[in-house]
Amino acid sequence: MACDRQSSLKLPSYSKQSEIVPWQVSGMIHRNIDVIRCCSFLNHGKTVTAKQIGTRYLTGSGNAALPSRLAFAFDIDGVLIRGKNALPAAKEALSMLDGNNKFGLKIPFILLTNGGGVGEEERCRKLSSQLGVQIHPEQFIQAHTVLKSVVNKYADQPVLVLGGKGDTLRTVAEGYGFQQVYTTLDILAWNASIWPFHDLTQQERASVKTTDFSKIPFSAIFVFHDPRNWALDIQIMCDVIQSRGVIGSYRESNHMRKPVDLVFCNPDLIWQSDFEAPRMGQGAFKIAFQAVFQALTGSTYPHTQFGKPTEATYKFAEMMLKRHLPGVSTPSLYMIGDNPESDIAGANAAGWKSILVRSGVYDSRHGPPSHQPTHEAEDVAEAVYWALEQEMRS
Ligand code: G3P
Ligand code: MG
Repeated sequence: MACDRQSSLKLPSYSKQSEIVPWQVSGMIHRNIDVIRCCSFLNHGKTVTAKQIGTRYLTGSGNAALPSRLAFAFDIDGVLIRGKNALPAAKEALSMLDGNNKFGLKIPFILLTNGGGVGEEERCRKLSSQLGVQIHPEQFIQAHTVLKSVVNKYADQPVLVLGGKGDTLRTVAEGYGFQQVYTTLDILAWNASIWPFHDLTQQERASVKTTDFSKIPFSAIFVFHDPRNWALDIQIMCDVIQSRGVIGSYRESNHMRKPVDLVFCNPDLIWQSDFEAPRMGQGAFKIAFQAVFQALTGSTYPHTQFGKPTEATYKFAEMMLKRHLPGVSTPSLYMIGDNPESDIAGANAAGWKSILVRSGVYDSRHGPPSHQPTHEAEDVAEAVYWALEQEMRS
């Protein structure tokens, strides 16, 4: 008897439903889901989705079998959120993991995004209201959060921070421990002729910190988040790097000074917002900068890359996940993402299981993904159910 896996199921009316002890049901569902779908329930005429089965399935006494070494990392853009809106499947998936089951069983999860631009606390507040589940900073990693692990090297030195609105990221960087943080708007306010094509808005002028930059030896440039003014930022990055940190001092002796470190926090060329087609990301900005710098100097500039899929970011994430799995030596970690280049490549390299969803950047019409996931799913809820089933079987 051929069955269509995706078809919806017919289930007894709710009251009848509660008569069936979940464990028994879950047992059966788990092993013979096709059989149940085709044979017993079709007769009853009520339709529900597989997900509802999953939800019911997981609220049953079957949960006890769920290994306690299980934890999830969720990408945000294209998986939980598109633009300003939460995706319907996101609320379902997270609320279930957040103990929204009659046993109040919580399955640890973190959010791991290449996004950024505001402080972790502020972003968690916003995400909690968008997703309807409390997201705490100790379960949240954005592109620049990993910089907390390198701040010691630069704490007391002048650094240039790029990206975000106004001086929002100055405050975030100071929160990480950077003590001398400047922005490209500060430099433009100091000397407007450095980039004559942008007049500071009143709001921007209110956010600047002015000083005599001919006396400021920058030790590093950090691209925290997607720059708002690529042209201004690329001009000033070239100025700072070519003068080995002190803008305007293009003297031979500059080469005595240590080259300026350059750090990018997000390599994504594209990402999925609420616009139909994917948008350019910080990775596109990096390519633009390197193209200009190479045209000016003949070579691209060496830099450090953080963000998914880098090892540093996945190690940082694994450390955070393990804090939610005390005493577990071999955790079973799942990464659910929409971008094969960042989410899947990084998770595979970290030895995690990876699930690629079709609700974001990845479009199966364009052929197989550049990095093979452990599994592909329509959306995050289906991905979570599949993972739970795997864990049940293991
Ligand atoms: O700017 C954010 C974008 O690059 C991707 O974000 O959440 O999909 O990792 P996310
Ligand atoms: Mg994404």
